[in-house]
Amino acid sequence: MAILASSPVALPEKPKGLPHPEYETPRGVSPLESVPKAGLQYPNYTPFKLPNLVEQPFTDRAAASDPAKSALLNAASKVIHLTPDIGTELVGLQIKDLTDTQKNELGRLVAERGVVFLRDQDLDVHEQIEFGAYYGPLHIHQMAGIIPDLPWVHPIHKDETAVNGRSHQIWHSDVSYEIQPPGLTMLRMDTLPNAGPDGSEVGGDTIWASGYAVYEYEALSPKLREILETLEAKHSGLAQAEKALRTNGCLRRDPIETIHPVVRTHPVTGWKTLYVNQNFTKELVGLEKRLGDAILDDLYRTIAESYEYQVRWKWSKNAVAIWDNRTTFHTGIFDYFPHLRHGLRVAPQAEKPYFDPASKTRAEALNDKA
Ligand SMILES: [Fe+2]
Repeated sequence: MAILASSPVALPEKPKGLPHPEYETPRGVSPLESVPKAGLQYPNYTPFKLPNLVEQPFTDRAAASDPAKSALLNAASKVIHLTPDIGTELVGLQIKDLTDTQKNELGRLVAERGVVFLRDQDLDVHEQIEFGAYYGPLHIHQMAGIIPDLPWVHPIHKDETAVNGRSHQIWHSDVSYEIQPPGLTMLRMDTLPNAGPDGSEVGGDTIWASGYAVYEYEALSPKLREILETLEAKHSGLAQAEKALRTNGCLRRDPIETIHPVVRTHPVTGWKTLYVNQNFTKELVGLEKRLGDAILDDLYRTIAESYEYQVRWKWSKNAVAIWDNRTTFHTGIFDYFPHLRHGLRVAPQAEKPYFDPASKTRAEALNDKA
């Protein structure tokens, strides 16, 4: 009997009331071309309403994978660890050819290394959706522009109209205000800015920082860590929603604020990671505002200044980054105005963040094994 290497993935159901129902993104074509060609705004901000999100059961597919990840790593022609603490590049693999076993192991590698990169990926937007949907229900953004028929894809798009682009340059974890924020998240870059002094393709790198590493190293004292593990923080989507209403009137769900633990446990690695970010975390619950803000400011500064726990990625056309939003922070570098930079992101939602007091820091867990 033939064994299916990769089982078919149920694609997400289209929400009702999508704008421009006559439009369909063709296979093998970037929506950056096909949407404007159809005479539509891109990314598209036509308002439509979605039901509010409610908590759903989630099982991380990587949890059952082989910790050695041999099906994945042995298939790569090269495995390049970009820094000691975060970031690995896989060479010689096409994402669309991975078996389920390899995809599960990729999820584990992403959970361990924070972010995994692959260049030259032959993957259209439909295949990207299929890849993301394998890991969990795909998130639809509350206000960002969409591809009219594929609302689960978040276009990363800046050009000469990005007058306030620099304000996006803040360390964050994507949409952490949601009840179940994304875990594994994928961005594929298809257009790089011609921002070099000679018009060459350069600029728009992205930096990631490791939440495991920031949390476990000497930057935070053991006493502060003990306190942080008892704390929860309020993450808010309100400011983003207000801005959307002010600028383009496109808000698809009721904006929410959600309480998450300040330190969360990753369900696959079992490691503790810091889970506050400057974009969406508004306050520490139960602390005097002034004190909570001082602690948060200190944590944000630690994230931003921990260069040894960061990786900076230089994109190339059709390169892909797959990161874990549970355990990393990232920010795009806006050094390419007024040039065009475009990529597509899919973000499967993961579990509701939790803290398991029996969990360990990454260093503690690895020392136990040694
Ligand atoms: Fe982001």
